[in-house]
Amino acid sequence: MGIVIAIDGVVGAGKSTTARLLAQRLGYRHLDTGAMYRALTLAALRQQVAPVAGAALETLLGQLRIDLEPNGRVRLDGEDVSEAIRQPQISRAVGAYADLPLVRLAMVEEQQRLGAAGGVVAEGRDMASVVFPRAELKVRLVADLEERVRRRFRELSAKGVHTSLEQVRADIRRRDQQDLERDYGASGPPAGVLEVDTTGLSIEEQVARLAALARQRGA
Ligand code: DC
Repeated sequence: MGIVIAIDGVVGAGKSTTARLLAQRLGYRHLDTGAMYRALTLAALRQQVAPVAGAALETLLGQLRIDLEPNGRVRLDGEDVSEAIRQPQISRAVGAYADLPLVRLAMVEEQQRLGAAGGVVAEGRDMASVVFPRAELKVRLVADLEERVRRRFRELSAKGVHTSLEQVRADIRRRDQQDLERDYGASGPPAGVLEVDTTGLSIEEQVARLAALARQRGA
């Protein structure tokens, strides 16, 4: 039992970390829908199924088994692919698969099935607009560009990736633009979405704010 919390937001607003920690705090499942698109992409690349609508991709979608474990690990047909799906070649390829209506249809259906019993924090661009339009809590996380640049830069530096603020800024701008241009299958802007500005908030404060909102909505 529990409510459905739909979290969406701009690149670098802290969606993933916030969704994961919020789920932990509430004892909910974290439905990382990006990980599902990534796992599909990994399976397709391995089996050399191109990102075009057709029988090969349809068969793959029908056979695919993606498990999101409570500990955050992602399994593809039983194999732990948590690291493999974060590799740059997957990040580069995933958009081409995620753009296909037949892929979105299959993913949305599976996500709705996973969220049907409630008790989930669902994270991804189309959560409030397409997948869970009747979620008890729908949130869009936003933050100033410069704050997002600093966060992403720190995150990459911590991982040992050498980059510059300029490069990170250009990358975030490009991804913002892609998000604007991409069709996530929504017929219009979602209703009842609360915009939460996370500029100046720590992750802990961000999670506390959402947890308070979730409690107001019955979590
Ligand atoms: O959040 P992420 O980087 O793990 O997402 C991976 C890709 O999947 C990214 O290109 C956006 C896409 N995606 C999507 O189209 N719909 C979702 N609900 C989640 C992710």
